[in-house]
Amino acid sequence: LRAVVSFRTDDVVGPVRRRLFGSFVEHLGRCVYGGIHEPGHPSADEEGFRRDVLALTREMGVSVVRYPGGNFVSGYRWEDGVGPRGQRPVRRDLAWRSIESNEVGLDEFVRWARKAEVEVMYAVNLGTRGVAEALDVHEYANHGSGTTLSDLRVANGSAEPHGISLWCLGNEMDGPWQLGHKTAEEYGRLAAETARALRQAEPGVELVACGSSSSAMPTFGEWERVVLEAAYEEVDHISCHAYYEVLDGDVDSFLASAEDMDRFIGSVAATADAVGAKVKSPKRIGISFDEWNVWSIKDFEASRTSEWRSAPKLIEDTYDVADAVVVGNLLISLLRHADRVAVACQAQLVNVIAPIRCEPDSAAWRQTTFHPFALTSRLARGEVLRTVVDGPTQDTGRFGEVPVVDAVVTREGEEVVVFLVNRHRHESVEVGFEGGERGVVEAWVLGDEDSGAINTALQPERVKPRGLGVERDGTAVRVVLPPVSWGVVRMG
Ligand code: AHR
Repeated sequence: LRAVVSFRTDDVVGPVRRRLFGSFVEHLGRCVYGGIHEPGHPSADEEGFRRDVLALTREMGVSVVRYPGGNFVSGYRWEDGVGPRGQRPVRRDLAWRSIESNEVGLDEFVRWARKAEVEVMYAVNLGTRGVAEALDVHEYANHGSGTTLSDLRVANGSAEPHGISLWCLGNEMDGPWQLGHKTAEEYGRLAAETARALRQAEPGVELVACGSSSSAMPTFGEWERVVLEAAYEEVDHISCHAYYEVLDGDVDSFLASAEDMDRFIGSVAATADAVGAKVKSPKRIGISFDEWNVWSIKDFEASRTSEWRSAPKLIEDTYDVADAVVVGNLLISLLRHADRVAVACQAQLVNVIAPIRCEPDSAAWRQTTFHPFALTSRLARGEVLRTVVDGPTQDTGRFGEVPVVDAVVTREGEEVVVFLVNRHRHESVEVGFEGGERGVVEAWVLGDEDSGAINTALQPERVKPRGLGVERDGTAVRVVLPPVSWGVVRMG
């Protein structure tokens, strides 16, 4: 098979925003306890944070981390997690049927984020709580001093305000599983009221309203319309969430998951723009794709128990090469929409549906999905160029006819980086593009004869990027992508 990738260096979609390389830490399973935080582990620092997890987070190039949930946040009392550890209450977390010790809370997470060199994106509870509690946590986090809650933060050891600028107004409020689930009208009003209040406190905060928890929700589309009609002027972004898995054994559709992400982003953008026209606003609403990943939800549903446990092993998916290729393709989709997607967070960071895994008795390791994320975050710089692929297509059960090869190109100064994916299960594809006078600086491919290959604590380097052979013929560049592979070519 053969494909040609074309782009023009002056045809720009938008900037490569660093916030596209976000992640997510929820009080869920072993993401916080036994993930970022494990006092007593040989790699733990003086605050109990695992240094090996911190190092991999930095290596992965994560820019922003959403916290503390997720479904967890809809029953969370932020004040349980601040102050002297010995006095913090132990609570039930109904979302994940877990016992929450509250040993880690807002102040600890902000300290962890500094060490990880990431921005904090903080979600407030609009499930069981409302405007007052959102204002309280904002006062605690961002107000300088001289008020009861800001002075409490100072007394708790953080003299400087945390300066959180990105706030989520609740989580997945469209989902019947969500504590305090609301109709679009109810949520739209609450989101607008909370947003107005937060802006009265600090005009410059950036606010994300909850969109749909998936494009398959029965309320998808209508939810966005109603919420934005209520809150258009008050919020900056609307969220999208999407998880992909192999359904009914249909691997070809799974490998083409980015088609769904493209359509999802397109529909939400169109809906937001239609509301903008209706409310006669010149403002453009951004998309915060603040939960995305590969997740075998069917396996999770089958494994649910009724026991109450502390930091249980939950949703610890092991990812193979095919999963990593899908993750790489989802990043291509996010970059392609650089004009619209303002923030994106892979869910989640460690242990829970995560690119980083760790155990109490081993060093943290990189799952297969770590690699396309780390390389994309490191190499995508400057601006995203409009990219056209001319090549073969294949039929899929869920998305109809889709291109076998997907690609996106970024450019910074003279440097051009081409990100590519071959979704075909059996055929290699020869991909050509115009490199001009540029030399090849580096080129990588993630693929394997066994697309089911994985990394484990004992074999942490079984799957990793290998050098990709690049042929030149004058200014023409040619690479061969093996079946089910993701690749990148950097030229400069
Ligand atoms: O990321 C896991 C869960 O998926 C989150 O808690 C929730 O928001 C989503 O349904």
